[in-house]
Amino acid sequence: MQVSLIILAAGQGTRMASDLPKVLHRLGAAPLLHHAMAAGQSLDPERIVVVTGHGAEAVAKAAHAFDDSALIAHQAEQSGTAHAVLQAESAMAGAGGNAIVLYGDTPFVRAETLQAMVEARERHAVVVLGFDAADPGRYGRLIAQGDSLERIVEYKDATDEERAITLCNSGVICADAATLFRLCHAVGNTNAAGEYYLTDIVALARAEGLSAGLVLCDEAETMGINTRAELAAAEAAFQRRARLDAMENGVTLTAPDTVFFALDTTIGRDTIIGPNVVFGPRVTIESEAEIKAFCHLEGCHISRGADVGPFARLRPGAELAEGVHVGNFVEIKNAILDEGVKVGHLSYIGDADVGEFTNIGAGTVTCNYDGVMKHRTRIGKRAFIGSDTMLVAPVTVGDGALTASGSVITENVPAEAVAMGRARQVNKPGLATKLFDRLRAIKAGKKDA
Ligand code: UD1
Ligand code: CA
Repeated sequence: MQVSLIILAAGQGTRMASDLPKVLHRLGAAPLLHHAMAAGQSLDPERIVVVTGHGAEAVAKAAHAFDDSALIAHQAEQSGTAHAVLQAESAMAGAGGNAIVLYGDTPFVRAETLQAMVEARERHAVVVLGFDAADPGRYGRLIAQGDSLERIVEYKDATDEERAITLCNSGVICADAATLFRLCHAVGNTNAAGEYYLTDIVALARAEGLSAGLVLCDEAETMGINTRAELAAAEAAFQRRARLDAMENGVTLTAPDTVFFALDTTIGRDTIIGPNVVFGPRVTIESEAEIKAFCHLEGCHISRGADVGPFARLRPGAELAEGVHVGNFVEIKNAILDEGVKVGHLSYIGDADVGEFTNIGAGTVTCNYDGVMKHRTRIGKRAFIGSDTMLVAPVTVGDGALTASGSVITENVPAEAVAMGRARQVNKPGLATKLFDRLRAIKAGKKDA
């Protein structure tokens, strides 16, 4: 059965006290919106429609960064969740099958839960995701008999008796797309909030003789983000889960509580992650690699058996082949390091290609930026770059070539050549002693004066 997602993301999120639309605040180094999209992605949706309102352009851009085929529907005024769903109707034209409505600010709904809702659709026309709330607060209350749902009453409209119910609406709803839109058109706004409530479609479905049912989930899955404090709590929850997932997948975390993952971090089996490692977006690490303490990784790919750190920084476009060694205080950006390359200490390698088994000495810098443009450094296989070499790009060092320590390399180095780009050393016998004697005399003279 085909499934499409309608993700509501028009709200401003006033309580975040922010100029940024709520769904763009980051959790696990990704906008909240991406978490909802990622949960829905596992259903292999036919269409994804994101309903934007506040900060529409930025929200649309973030949606496309996750999935460039996502469709955008605009809700100019936020007059309620049913009204928001209706904005997606034209984008959904011709899409058969089920539609699942998700909120862009509810990041923890699990893929398995959405799957269970789709399965429950075989028994019910409308399926609502509910949970038993420890503190039901202002959630909509579910009026149900077993797994059969009669109606949903919003907190503002509920009687005291209804407010005493702890079975609550998460907001996630699944129905056949055509049925969903037909019911949403029938929703009115004569209620305490003067809004078009999506939740009213349950009673409308029942009045038509259709059945409505419930799928229950853990309260933790339905956590919505409304404040910075909730965002921080969500971050902690996200990290706890990501650490456990990594370990279940065969990754060793020496000090799990100090490692920070991104939503899309991927790590292979038997890789070891030391303490205080931080993952930004788009990092993949293959199996049997090791990331030592205090590394910051972002937008990079690390192959099998490579070892990185401690204290290394890999920036976007860093591509490490098998068995590469990147040591302490090394920064790599937009550079391809072929198999067995070693960059042991205190180096910056940016906009570069480094051939297999080349050794980069301590303190080497690819001078890639001339103040206006970036240039590339190309180093061949099995080359030896002496410590403190400045490679002024664009420049090429051939296979098997050597640069002398302290060289400033401004011209291409042929394969197998030695390049010395530094002043020749001169020794003056006895001069040091003479110099010191003179300086000491000057100092003594000053004291007497
Ligand atoms: C909604 C549900 C409530 C449920 C709760 C769970 C309704 C009427 N109520 O209430 O039963 O317990 O969620 O969190 O559906 N949005 C739009 N456009 C709008 C209105 C909302 O895009 O016009 C988006 C918001 O940005 C948000 C989501 O829909 O992501 C939910 O809206 P919100 O106003 O937070 O609904 P609640 O009052 O919390
Ligand atoms: Ca809410």
